[in-house]
Amino acid sequence: MINKKSVKDIDVSSKRVLVRCDFNVPLDKETGEITSDKRIVESLKTICYLRDHNAKIVLCSHIGKTGKNISLAPVAKRLSELLNQEVRLLKDIDSEETKNVVYHLAEKEIVLLENTRMTEAEEANDMEFAKKLASFGEIFVNDAFGTAHRAHASTEGVTHFLPSVCGFLIEKEIEALDHGINNPKRPLVAIIGGAKVSSKIGVLTNLLDKVDTLLIGGAMTYTFVKAQGGKIGNSLCEEDKVDVAAEILKKALEKGVRMLLPVDNVVAKEISNDTETKICGVDEIPDGYMGLDIGPKTIELYKGEIEVAGTVVWNGPVGVFEYQNFEKGTREIAKAMADSNAVTIIGGGDSAAAVEKFGLEDRMSHVSTGGGASLEFMEGKKLPGIEALQDK
Ligand code: 3PG
Repeated sequence: MINKKSVKDIDVSSKRVLVRCDFNVPLDKETGEITSDKRIVESLKTICYLRDHNAKIVLCSHIGKTGKNISLAPVAKRLSELLNQEVRLLKDIDSEETKNVVYHLAEKEIVLLENTRMTEAEEANDMEFAKKLASFGEIFVNDAFGTAHRAHASTEGVTHFLPSVCGFLIEKEIEALDHGINNPKRPLVAIIGGAKVSSKIGVLTNLLDKVDTLLIGGAMTYTFVKAQGGKIGNSLCEEDKVDVAAEILKKALEKGVRMLLPVDNVVAKEISNDTETKICGVDEIPDGYMGLDIGPKTIELYKGEIEVAGTVVWNGPVGVFEYQNFEKGTREIAKAMADSNAVTIIGGGDSAAAVEKFGLEDRMSHVSTGGGASLEFMEGKKLPGIEALQDK
């Protein structure tokens, strides 16, 4: 349960409301067009609520990394279409014109400040910059779940200067993730994939205290298989994490968690759609080959676990799903989740991208808009952008 005040707990009428969204959307490298507007669409509920309640709305967000200086212009355009109202992009937050526009906003009017990462002061959580951003609002609403794990000027810094509450997206994300992990319908099955054990140690350790069954996939499988003495050919392996993997397997046993590794896999000499592939046991990969997807026996095994689950939480693809040759495992897991009666929760980032690629997003209970943020939540960490908001 989220114990933070939301937009519904304050009077926003006639007030200038600074809203931090996560408009860090993917752009096509050639055309600059938005390739997925999920994060924009998910921000609409809060924006429309504020508009319906006669607020003067000042949106802000980062896009891309500091130093890249990517403009939010495509986002302003998409927002204008979705809201059926012009959303003006204010290109220079230091200019007198921007101040003038913001201070003279009419009720229901909406503007968007340019990318907060146009300056290093954003990530440095510089208080002067935070104060400048805060001066654009009388109230701060954080609805950027995807950036809630960052203590930046526009997420944490501004809360030092304005009454600060959360928006509906943050509320929805926390309710879904918290319910899925801390108060689930059992059995709770977690599928954890991805390339590296090192980036998933926190989540694996935290989930061992919560889940009934843990299914492992992705390249991190091979660090576990190595820990068990299997033959992994040229598969990716973090040699310095073999001990950690062994420790996680031991803890699972002690805690009575059924931790399953793949039993077979799709192997190839290279990651390409033209390369020849073979199926073999996960611990008998020939030299020169690497494991790049779970195999047919593993698909059946994992589907069986998903079928009997009360809740399934998924973070990290089980194969290199970006390639047709190695997408089947990830596709079948997504399909099994979509077909199951369980509560299905997809952590953001790559797993969300996979579900979107297979067109199964609408058949999941919840697909998070946060990659790093949902991972940190699943690690049991507090998210600074949410912690800083006013308690109920
Ligand atoms: C994300 O895409 O995960 C968020 O927008 C945060 O972006 P960042 O990892 O660049 O801070």
